[in-house]
Amino acid sequence: MLRPMELLNVADFEARAAELLDAGTYAYYAGGANDERTLRENVAAWDRWALRPRILVDVSDVTTETTLLGRTLAMPLVVAPMAYQRMAHPDGEIAMGRAIAEAGSLMTLSSLATATRAEVAETGVPRWYQLYVPKDAGKARAILDDAVAHGFEALVLTVDTPVLGRRERDLRLGWHVPTSVRVQNLGEGEVSPLGAFSEMSAAVTWRDVEKFAADTKLPVILKGVYTAEDARLAVEHGASAVIVSNHGGRQLDAVVGSAEALPEVAEAIAGRIPVLVDGGIRRGTDVLKALALGASAAMVGRPLLWGLTVDGQAGAAAVLDLFRAEISLGLQLLGCTSPRDITRAAVTRRPA
Ligand SMILES: Cc1cc2nc3c(=O)[nH]c(=O)nc-3n(C[C@H](O)[C@H](O)[C@H](O)COP(=O)(O)O)c2cc1C
Repeated sequence: MLRPMELLNVADFEARAAELLDAGTYAYYAGGANDERTLRENVAAWDRWALRPRILVDVSDVTTETTLLGRTLAMPLVVAPMAYQRMAHPDGEIAMGRAIAEAGSLMTLSSLATATRAEVAETGVPRWYQLYVPKDAGKARAILDDAVAHGFEALVLTVDTPVLGRRERDLRLGWHVPTSVRVQNLGEGEVSPLGAFSEMSAAVTWRDVEKFAADTKLPVILKGVYTAEDARLAVEHGASAVIVSNHGGRQLDAVVGSAEALPEVAEAIAGRIPVLVDGGIRRGTDVLKALALGASAAMVGRPLLWGLTVDGQAGAAAVLDLFRAEISLGLQLLGCTSPRDITRAAVTRRPA
């Protein structure tokens, strides 16, 4: 049972979730690739930036509201796609959708979800669909048609995962996603987790980005853009937004933390399309740093899994509420009354 006064921040939620989950599931959720350098860097990199507060601003009336791709959100934070949420809680993605709807945020549904697109649509949550591209073009087409029919408002193409990274924590424990966990979204009823990823293509290129944009009429958001070169190509090939992401340190374990990659990407995009960022965001102040470094919104992953594990819908809602409260407090202490007030001058490099 959740005793709210004990769980004051995301770290508290993680500690409680780690007690509740079996060791293998916790390792799968928490872990990263290889030596987990990038996983650690994600958190460390936000700490290398510090905030520069302005004083004597009337902050008695503050809003965390923002708009993103034409949608009003209660805060500049959206929820990242994460596979297999029923391992955290029996209500999985449905509880997650309800919590996010309640918080006025937006959900990105994973291709490897354990609820159907229809079930998530029923929660009423504003939603994007994350695609791992199947090798079978007909299957991809059917999935996208179904996503459009179920009110998903954008296609999030994850571009850092042509193949899966090597997760040594899982290997060491000999852990696999249990066969009782079924992927619901890949077109042929329920699919086993192992089978699911083997059906995905490692041959996706910029040409496919244009094709998806033309075929679906949905905005295409590229998740995993990490360099200025690719940021420019993303705009040229019709992307509607990019997400600076290293997949939570689960893919290439040798890249800088996402807070270090964000300025390069934001500069190359130069305001032409929105930039989002995820990886290691654990506090409202991390979200504010992201905005100062050029992001329109932050994406958060694991903290929501910890909330879902601790208390299903209520736990996920509690984590979102923590972020909202921390963003609001942070804005006020920074001398801002809205996310719009944040500029590059709000951050500085912390002295080494
Ligand atoms: C357990 C887990 C499963 C994930 N599954 C997916 C997925 O199916 N598709 C995807 O694009 N990203 C996936 N990601 C990456 C997240 O979308 C996101 O990039 C990352 O978790 C952000 O970092 P954070 O967890 O430090 O906030 C997953 C991450 C975790 C932790």
